[in-house]
Amino acid sequence: MAVPPHVLRLSCMLLLADLALMLVLTHFFPALAQLGQMGSWLEAVLRLLVLGGAKQLLAPKGPHGAAVLLSLTPAIFLTLRGYMGLPGAAPVLLATATPSWLVLTHGTALVALLTWSLLAPTVAVGAKDAETWVPLKRLLALAWPEWPLLSCAFLFLALAALGETSVPYFTGRALDVLRQGDGLTTFTAAVGLMCLASASSSLFAGCRGGLFTFIGYRFVLRTRDQLFSSLVYRDLAFFQKTTAAELSSRLTTDVTLASKVLTLNINVMLRTLGQVLGLCAFMLGLSPRLTLLALLEVPLAVAARKVYDSRHQMLQRAVLDAAANTGTAVQESISSIETVRVFNGEEEEERRYRQALDRTLRLRDQRDTEKAIFLLIRRALQLAVQALVLYCGHQQLHDGTLTAGSLVAFILYQTNAGSCVQALAYCYGDLLSNAAAACKVFDYLDRERAVGTGGTYVPTKLQGHITFHRVSFAYPTRPEHLVLQDVTFELRPGEVTALAGLNGSGKSTCVALLERFYEPKAGEVLLDGVPLQDYEHCYLHRQVALVGQEPVLFSGSIRDNIAYGMEDCEEEEIIAAARAAGALGFISALEQGFGTDVGERGGQLSAGQKQRIAIARALVRHPTVLILDEATSALDGDGDVMLQQWVRNGVDRTVLLISHQPRMLEKADRVVVLEHGMVAEMGTPTELRTRGGPYSRLLQH
Ligand SMILES: Nc1ncnc2c1ncn2[C@@H]1O[C@H](COP(=O)(O)OP(=O)(O)OP(=O)(O)O)[C@@H](O)[C@H]1O
Ligand SMILES: [Mg+2]
Repeated sequence: MAVPPHVLRLSCMLLLADLALMLVLTHFFPALAQLGQMGSWLEAVLRLLVLGGAKQLLAPKGPHGAAVLLSLTPAIFLTLRGYMGLPGAAPVLLATATPSWLVLTHGTALVALLTWSLLAPTVAVGAKDAETWVPLKRLLALAWPEWPLLSCAFLFLALAALGETSVPYFTGRALDVLRQGDGLTTFTAAVGLMCLASASSSLFAGCRGGLFTFIGYRFVLRTRDQLFSSLVYRDLAFFQKTTAAELSSRLTTDVTLASKVLTLNINVMLRTLGQVLGLCAFMLGLSPRLTLLALLEVPLAVAARKVYDSRHQMLQRAVLDAAANTGTAVQESISSIETVRVFNGEEEEERRYRQALDRTLRLRDQRDTEKAIFLLIRRALQLAVQALVLYCGHQQLHDGTLTAGSLVAFILYQTNAGSCVQALAYCYGDLLSNAAAACKVFDYLDRERAVGTGGTYVPTKLQGHITFHRVSFAYPTRPEHLVLQDVTFELRPGEVTALAGLNGSGKSTCVALLERFYEPKAGEVLLDGVPLQDYEHCYLHRQVALVGQEPVLFSGSIRDNIAYGMEDCEEEEIIAAARAAGALGFISALEQGFGTDVGERGGQLSAGQKQRIAIARALVRHPTVLILDEATSALDGDGDVMLQQWVRNGVDRTVLLISHQPRMLEKADRVVVLEHGMVAEMGTPTELRTRGGPYSRLLQH
């Protein structure tokens, strides 16, 4: 760990600026010194202004606390020293202090600053805080439908805080009554008030907690709903860049964390802030001197918490990443257990998992050790300040300026206030990380819908004549690599056009453009002479049906899968589509027929059966254009016979067939051969075969 050079530079500059200022102040010293303690504070304010300005000029991005620490510490120290009545002479102003005082104050400030920058390397002070308030406004807007409940929850919050604050006061009163030996009635009244305050604060706290939890659930559900709606309309490029695990984490973890900002962090912070203010008011009432001493804990606790939080967040992120890696190792091994077995990879997988576990364990150990050290330091700080208060309290008792009951009440208040300050500091850190999660959620919510926008064209009659006109295309993930170059061909109604070519020649990419998964970089794809983007989204996808290379079935019944996305689909239509796809035979043989559950991703069916159901799902829509991308590869014998039925089924249908099987290609009316994303040749299968070009070579493969 090395001290960042910018911190050293800034410290030196500030020290120089400070010395220059003190030289100036020495000339005004007689006037300021006569003001006593007020003079110390005036000097502190002047130094704060000058040092703050100097810091802003010299290092705007440097640690903000440096100038504050350097200018205010001496005044605080001198004031406290005065209150404690410590022996020995102390200067009123730093400008007139002896060099040893200067060394003490500046040395302490420097050590504090360096410790801070060493222990909290990742704290970009200021930047994070500014970002926190933006999501807060958005979160409030999202939670606005719950405003009646929210208002009630905040009302209970205020009442509970009031109740909790007054309990120690009544406890002190009861003790004083006991000591002074006042009558039973006065004592009973004091105890009664104490119980009433306790009981009512517990009741209000319960109502507050219940309401916030209830609001939290509703908020989470509504936000998840909105987020999912916004996700399903994203373009495919988005899903290629974003993993499913990340999206699922946004939906589950991040939305829950975002909801905590409102229902937990703000709730607890307001409650605690109210308590701290109330407690301080009571403490000031009892003894202003002791209150000032007790308040010494606040900056120390906040500083310790900030250092700890920044380190904890860093470690926590690393632990989460390590845990995710462990999860991935398990998932990959289990989901590909057959491959692991075939290649004898059990030991390799075992080692991978153990390494991931070891790393997680190491990080957890470090995190927990740092937590233990932090708790120890925090407790030591609390004890030190309490000892200070007791010392001064004892003096006040001796002087007769404080009663024993008031001292007990004060100590109770101080303990409470200490926990509240700790809670405030913790909540603030938690609020920052939860607000960061909210920012990620909003980032997704704010992106514009990519699907279903723009086109409005809905013709009553569609012929299904498709033209690729000089189309060039590159995938968004690899924009420099042109997958299709100047591709021109057409698909005619009533014909089967086959797209042939080696692996990676661009066949499925043509299909992706036809389905409008992506937009061409240059050129156009026309349907009946109209660009695809002019068609209304739902209309286009009803007319152009695709059976993909790896057909995906959803968990549910065969019936649900065939009628997927179609409301009011008649049973007869489903049966007819299954028959046309050659699936009726095996479906009828199943015990539950169309009601049979296909399992997750259709896992309980064979590859050919899945393909037939996927074909039925396309046919049930009576599409004008049918695209079969390797959709017949797993079909047994009758695939080519059925193809003819799919083309001429009452009306003429445009069929685009992609296949590596010569038997299927030969059945096509025309063939377009692609090579490296360009059209190599096209014509009828017989023409191409006799030409002896790329098509013939393909057949020989
Ligand atoms: N999502 C993607 N992102 C980036 N590049 C892609 C993507 N999908 C495909 N490609 C690339 O585009 C090229 C064409 O792929 P395409 O899937 O269209 O080939 P294909 O002709 O259908 O091959 P196959 O016969 O194996 O199905 C390949 O070089 C491939 O690597
Ligand atoms: Mg393909």
